[in-house]
Amino acid sequence: MPRIPSVRRAQALRADPHKLYQDAVQCPQAEIDFVERTFKKLRRRQAMTLREDFCGTALNCCEWVRRGSRRTAFGVDRDGDVLAWGRRHNVNRLPPAARRRLRLVEADVLASGVRRVDVVLALNFSYWVFKRRDQLRGYFKSARAGLVRDGILVMDAYGGYDALRVLRERTPRKNYTYVWHQAAYNPVTGEMTCHIDFVFPDGSRLPRAYTYHWRLWTLPELRELLAEAGFRRSTVYWQQWDEKTQKPADEFLPTENGEADACWLAYVVAEK
Ligand SMILES: C[S@@+](CC[C@H](N)C(=O)[O-])C[C@H]1O[C@@H](n2cnc3c(N)ncnc32)[C@H](O)[C@@H]1O
Repeated sequence: MPRIPSVRRAQALRADPHKLYQDAVQCPQAEIDFVERTFKKLRRRQAMTLREDFCGTALNCCEWVRRGSRRTAFGVDRDGDVLAWGRRHNVNRLPPAARRRLRLVEADVLASGVRRVDVVLALNFSYWVFKRRDQLRGYFKSARAGLVRDGILVMDAYGGYDALRVLRERTPRKNYTYVWHQAAYNPVTGEMTCHIDFVFPDGSRLPRAYTYHWRLWTLPELRELLAEAGFRRSTVYWQQWDEKTQKPADEFLPTENGEADACWLAYVVAEK
């Protein structure tokens, strides 16, 4: 029987996955606040140059160059289509002067050929595509080589006992529901597969709008590899809890003692 086109599918058909991803997952103001503050505290100067690895639609790069007339950014991603989308929807909306201080580079993060910067940023766990120790150490080494003398590498990481489970976490938003789907986790290799689905009020869906094949790295493993790659020091900044709202806060503080939460989020900052 022929499939009858259904109006119920309309919202998913009209949706733009990159727009939804940015809205659901990213918060460039908070990320760049953290980078600025942390660099200033560690290095007693303002960071001026940023390289964002795995930059996707370059939202963080745009936030960076928007914040200062001497700020420059390089966004590195190997996917030309996602960079083109970012150029059209994010970069081209910047004031022309800011736009000139941002360059998108279609390349593998291991060989971007970008000049040395104050900060290399790798967010939303993207560096977990490197699944073996030698591969991740190789990435850390190349990120370190891309830093100026007092540069820093900033990454995020998540974990907790929920991270080891197969689950779907639904977050309802105004016009859609964001679904984080941990579809598979292999305790033998540490490899996991996750998807992002979007579900709309009319019942239509964008299943597996994004899929990630990662290794779930632990914080001690990351810090050991950072040291092996030559970083002088690495620090974990643990996300704080807002007692008032009973929600995770935007504040991340350095610590050697995390909590055994079901789900935690942290930044890892490595100093050259
Ligand atoms: C999860 S998205 C990250 C988007 C954005 N940085 C964020 O914070 O949400 C991962 C991106 O990494 C890119 N990517 C994966 N492996 C890469 C590699 N080896 N070199 C360059 N880009 C890579 C993909 O093309 C994709 O756009």
